[in-house]
Parts: sequence; C-alpha cells; structure tokens
Amino acid sequence: MAILVLGGAGYIGSHAVDQLVEVGKKVVVVDNLLTGHRAAVHPKASFYKGDIRDKEFLSQVFEKEIIDGVFHFAASSLVGESVESPLKYFNNNIYGTQVVLEVMQERGIKNIVFSSTAAVYGEPKVMPITEKTSTNPKNPYGESKLMMEKMMHWCEQAYGIHYVALRYFNVAGAKLDSTIGEDHSPETHLVPLILQTALGQRKEIVVFGEDYETPDGSCVRDYVHVVDLIQAHLLALEYLEQGNESTVFNLGSNQGFSVKEMVTAARKITGKEIPTRVGPRRAGDPSMLVASPDKACQILGWKPRYTDVETIMTTAWNWHQTHLDGYENK
Ligand code: UFG
Repeated sequence: MAILVLGGAGYIGSHAVDQLVEVGKKVVVVDNLLTGHRAAVHPKASFYKGDIRDKEFLSQVFEKEIIDGVFHFAASSLVGESVESPLKYFNNNIYGTQVVLEVMQERGIKNIVFSSTAAVYGEPKVMPITEKTSTNPKNPYGESKLMMEKMMHWCEQAYGIHYVALRYFNVAGAKLDSTIGEDHSPETHLVPLILQTALGQRKEIVVFGEDYETPDGSCVRDYVHVVDLIQAHLLALEYLEQGNESTVFNLGSNQGFSVKEMVTAARKITGKEIPTRVGPRRAGDPSMLVASPDKACQILGWKPRYTDVETIMTTAWNWHQTHLDGYENK
C-alpha cells in the first residue's frame, strides 16, 4: 500500500515524500514539474510526471499503484498572482481538486490530507488565530483553498472521503542535512529573498511597508519549520487511519516575527550586512498573522521542534549556501 503525494516535487511536497520514505512508507509522487523539481523527489519514491487535472493520467496512476491515502500539495500558491489571474487559481486548485476527488471516489480511496492556508482567514483582528476564527479570504488564492476545504466536506458527506485540511502559516527552513530545500522561480517569499541578498544574489531587501500597526511598523508573520509542518501531516494521516473525524488544523507556532526582525535574525546567522530599503505596502498584505497551534498539539499530538526563528533561518541558510542555483547546479 502506498501514499500518493500530489505535488511531491515542490518545496513542501518534497519534504513530505522524504519523511514518508524515512518512516518506511511506499510513496508514489505525481507532479507536473511546472514549479517542482525532479531532483527534489526522494529516489525511493515512484515518480509520474503529469497534471492532476488530466483525469485519464491520474486514473492510470491509481490503476498501476495500490494507493492507500493521498497527500495533496499540488496547487498554485502565490497571493499576488492569484489577484491578477484568478481563473488560473480556480482551474488549477479547484478543478484540480475536483478531479482528485472524482478519482478517489471511483477507486474507493478514503483518506486525504491537504494543504490549506492562513489566507482563508483574511485579516482577522484578534490574535492568535484559532480554527474558530471566521474565514474571510481576501484574494482568489485563499478563496480557492477555502473552496477546496468545502469540496472535501461535501464529498465526505456524499462518499465518505475523510480529510484533514492543514492551514499553513509561513512555512520556511529546509531539511536539516540540506539535501532538499526551497527553490522557487520567481522567488517571492521573504526568507529565501533575505538569504539570496546575504549571498549577494540580490542587491537589497525591500521591506513592504513600515507604517503598519505593529511594534516596529513592518508586517508580522508566524514562521513554521517545514520539517515540523510535515510531521503534522504524518500525524494527520495516522489520525485519519484511526477513523477520526474530518477537520481542520492551524499549523503555526503562536510566535510572530516582523519583517525587520527576520532581517536582523538573518544578519546574525549569516554575518552579512543584508541591505534593506523601505518600500510601499504590498497590496493585500494583512498586518499580522499569528496562529494558535493548540488544536494540532492537543488532538494530533503535534510537537514542533524547530520553533526558534534562528533555527529556521540557519537550516534555510545551509540549504542556500550549498545550492546557489537551487536544484539547477548543486
Ligand atoms: N515581504 C517583504 N519584502 C519582500 C517579501 C516579503 O517585506 O521582498 C514581507 C511581506 O510583506 C510579508 C512577509 O514579508 O509581510 C512575508 O511575506 P511572504 O511573501 O514570504 O509570505 P506571505 O505572508 O505573503 O504569504 C505566505 C504564503 C502564502 C500564504 C500566506 C498565508 O506564501 O502562500 O503566507 O498568510 F497564503
């Protein structure tokens, strides 16, 4: 019996494949390699290049392999892009998930763990954000993920497909041995941008606004280490395999760090100057997003180990230093 990892060549998916293989699971990966990297996939996993929206292709994978459960990471995930191209997000994320659920229903596959996002909450006023905080997405990306959650809900009612939706806050860091890490093109995420600046690959970091109502005026986010994040996925799978009810969990650390604090942490870790310049606010950025991870800790028994922002930054730095061009040229 294998776990099918959709989007297993991406930053987060590849860490999931790695940990599943490490705990002795048979793993099958599907990825269209539009943003993922073949080199990121653990050599012990079976790999199928293709798109989840191609039902014939996806059905063939289920035909060839004995699939027991699904991890679903295959989605577009850039907030800004989603505002400019909402239909891309509805097609890839919502229609893609529809095809996945159709094939699961036809094959009688009962368990799915999938990536949701803090973006489903929009801009809540009260921190930390719990799963009871109302959802109110402010961009098509968050809307598409909320829709995916709702599709799972109704498919559970109709077909008995059980799900866990994991609402990620800001995922960062890399596997501790630096064999896999974050490599996006174009890069838009704060931590890799800061470290590319430290390496001299970028001139400066533009701080997107310093007039927010936060202690230093820059935006505050809750950073969660990718290895801890994936640990929660393994626990969520166990939770479903034990017959527990479908639900959602926040994955964060209840600690907020501002953009400026992240740059300060990176200067300490790298010993580099990392020039910054204050620019205008980025459209759609909430001032503060901090999660309560209590539900995941209590119900899944999640125990994040790398909550210290310096550890997160150090593992990301080790990856960037050893992969100057990401997976292209090690
Ligand atoms: N930032 C800068 N300068 C940069 C890049 C980012 O100041 O060059 C700031 C942003 O304004 C934000 C923070 O750094 O305040 C983090 O930005 P990221 O782009 O790294 O991450 P986001 O918080 O925008 O988005 C992340 C995920 C999304 C997810 C969202 C949920 O990338 O997929 O968290 O809150 F939807």
